[in-house]
Amino acid sequence: MKVYIKTYGCQMNERDSDAMASLLRAEGHEIVGTEEEADALIFNTCSVREAAERKAKGKIGYMKKLKARKPGLVIGVAGCMAQRLGDKLLEELPHLDFVLGTGQLHTLPEQLRKAKEKHLRFAETEPSPDVLTGMSGHYAATWHGEIAITRGCNRFCSYCIVPYVRGREISRTREDVLAEAKMLVDSGVKELLLLGQNVAAYGLGGDIRPPADDCSPFAELLEELDKLPGLLRIRYTSPYVSYFNKRLIRTLATAEKVCHNIHLPLQSGSDRILAAMNRQYTRDSYLAKAAELRDAIPDLTFSTDVIVGFPGETEEDFRLTREVMNEMDYSQSFIFKYSPRPGAKSAQMPDTVPEEVKEERNQILLADLAVRVEKRLAAMKGRTEEVLVEGVSPRNPRRWTGRTGTNIMIHFEPDEKCRPGTLRKVEVIQSNPVSLFGKLVD
Ligand code: 5AD
Ligand code: SF4
Repeated sequence: MKVYIKTYGCQMNERDSDAMASLLRAEGHEIVGTEEEADALIFNTCSVREAAERKAKGKIGYMKKLKARKPGLVIGVAGCMAQRLGDKLLEELPHLDFVLGTGQLHTLPEQLRKAKEKHLRFAETEPSPDVLTGMSGHYAATWHGEIAITRGCNRFCSYCIVPYVRGREISRTREDVLAEAKMLVDSGVKELLLLGQNVAAYGLGGDIRPPADDCSPFAELLEELDKLPGLLRIRYTSPYVSYFNKRLIRTLATAEKVCHNIHLPLQSGSDRILAAMNRQYTRDSYLAKAAELRDAIPDLTFSTDVIVGFPGETEEDFRLTREVMNEMDYSQSFIFKYSPRPGAKSAQMPDTVPEEVKEERNQILLADLAVRVEKRLAAMKGRTEEVLVEGVSPRNPRRWTGRTGTNIMIHFEPDEKCRPGTLRKVEVIQSNPVSLFGKLVD
């Protein structure tokens, strides 16, 4: 069959879609780039905010017309929204054939057969531990590869639907991760991104108490990966601040290939809101951990996630968030307007902040960020940076792009030696508010 896969949401979903594509190809299916040429459509969905669900539902609803023209077309919905709504999606969307939950993604080829050959309509949402190892295939390895090392989350932040739709946190074994990493590196991968909702909790058995200072299975894994010949860089996302203990910080500072950038979700800079969010840190403890990390790794950059308009967020709470964000001087931040998710704890709290206020706070943080990013980029002028070459710039075919270990993109004019997935030295010669331009100097 020709299968079209559309992905919504986070990097974990992108990775899951990639693994599903690989499973389908192994069974002789072909992955195609448009809905029109497909015999089956798979929508891998997200539930983290209402807007993500609305977007996917709109798109899937629209596919009714295509199905009317092509009666044999199979339509399946997979991922977080599939898990959250299950049978209800079948009722809501009569042209939908099947619903596949987050713990069943590895069974996609079988479900596709069931829907196509037996003309059944069904929802499979029972979690299965086999999903952990069943999703290790890769569709198209390039210089960049991703490995999901944990799945699910046990932290239950009050706003978050993830623990409900992705289930309890489970970790792959170290042998399993190393085997997948080796396979990727053997096939030409130079940069590995380790994925997990709470990635630094890897190997802790789902215990939500932060471990003792000398215990970090995640650090041990990084050290093993660091030894892989041929691999150039290791990244990971997203860690939770409380897991950066002495053991992990030591590894981050000494491992050669682990990049000096941490995506460290802040969510709020107000202790009152952090407590209501069930985040197990305070403004001061977050800042202290960041300072400890910066002491150990002087060129470290941070990026973050922040939610504006959480129930009860006052002007003062917002001011505190703004203050911490300026103090942290993030190189990138993702700012989200609070969206109540049915089933998550905070959905029981009245959604008190009006939409216009959420929007206004969002805009203020974006404007702050723009000022800081411009300054940060301007300060890099004259510096020589090592970048991993990514390829031709999407906006200007005469230029290529590369990324520093600290996750900053630099544009440059290529020479004949330029290949994606190689390390090159670039001197930064120009900056504008959003990007850097440099010249190759090696
Ligand atoms: N509303 C708004 N943003 C949310 N996030 C998670 N749940 C919600 C929600 N209910 C944000 C958090 C998280 C990121 C992936 O999405 O900032 O880190
Ligand atoms: Fe959601 Fe919190 Fe888990 Fe992140 S750590 S996935 S925000 S419950």
